[in-house]
Amino acid sequence: MLIGAKITGVGAGIPKSIVTNQDLEKLVDTSDEWIRTRTGIKTRHIVKENESNSKLAIEAAIDAIGYANINPNDIDLIIVATSTPDNLYPSTACLVQGAIGASHAAAFDLEAACTGIIYALSVGLEFIKTGTYQKILVIGADVHSRFLDWEDRNTCILFGDGAGAFVIEASPGDNQILSTYLRSDGGRGHLICIPNSNSSFPHEGSKPPEAVKRFLKMNGKAIYEFAINAIPEALKTACDKANIALGDIDYLIPHQANQRIIDSVASKLNLKKEQLISNVAEVGNTSAASIPLAIWQALQAGQIKPPAICALVGFGGGLTWGASIIKWTAIDSRNR
Ligand code: UT7
Repeated sequence: MLIGAKITGVGAGIPKSIVTNQDLEKLVDTSDEWIRTRTGIKTRHIVKENESNSKLAIEAAIDAIGYANINPNDIDLIIVATSTPDNLYPSTACLVQGAIGASHAAAFDLEAACTGIIYALSVGLEFIKTGTYQKILVIGADVHSRFLDWEDRNTCILFGDGAGAFVIEASPGDNQILSTYLRSDGGRGHLICIPNSNSSFPHEGSKPPEAVKRFLKMNGKAIYEFAINAIPEALKTACDKANIALGDIDYLIPHQANQRIIDSVASKLNLKKEQLISNVAEVGNTSAASIPLAIWQALQAGQIKPPAICALVGFGGGLTWGASIIKWTAIDSRNR
């Protein structure tokens, strides 16, 4: 018999250092007005020299464990969705496992760019449904600031750093992760990419390749078009798989890339403003972290009121896209 699952915790790891649009006006030929009207972004948080992807992931993990009130020793598996890990190995997931003392947990990283958290949630869910594991930590963590060309106004204004985490637990007889849906299209992968400088560019001896080759490159307009078509398709399919109608969704939590994309999808789906969860203005596009971070902030602000049907939808590099329908009931154990 397949076992159900539910989310019991959510956590955040956000760097303290804030970069405003006005700060960026000093770096590139841009303006606060252009960035706000084209993207909705006002600020983003950026890691300092002594911070890293794993540091943010560990912070989010500890926060989510506190929210769910579980013992790190009871965690069976840690999955970190990231495209900007500290190392090729050890994985960020193993660094988290060691730091939080999850002594019995398996750990691995998964890469599906900004859709990574939906992929990680989906993989975790399968381990629970088959009875293999009972408690899983799923984290999305990215530090795109380390892969941006800070002289390219097309990309450097968009991204912020951060980590967000979910605890998912087996829940026999009360399945609350109602569906997941994953897609990819490698044929359009060139539209947004970060080449890996060492393996993509063979070089002689120990001479490192030019740093510029590892910067993020993006065709913004094409990704915009892709997003506004992929999001409704993923939502509709995830709702069908969950046996609910689009009208049953209480809150939409889309990948936080651009407020215009979020608003356009909301208007296509006839959603009200209060059903839209968005923190892109404060944190920018935090890639794999963006969905759990948006949920975390909305819960803190009292915007999401459990129990609620939440529709999570992601899109990004790969290309990848996907969605998950979740009945959210989790309340922070520290406020109980
Ligand atoms: O996680 C997935 C990641 N990516 C996305 O979701 C990105 C999706 N795409 C977008 O969000 C939008 O396409 C952008 C915000 C990236 C760009 O907005 P746009 O309305 O599509 O602008 P555009 O690319 O058509 O550029 C319009 C103009 C161009 O000037 P010209 O060629 O018309 O003279 C750009 O050079 O705006 C210029 N521009 C800027 N101007 C001031 C581009 N970036 C900037 C900037 N400041 N930062």
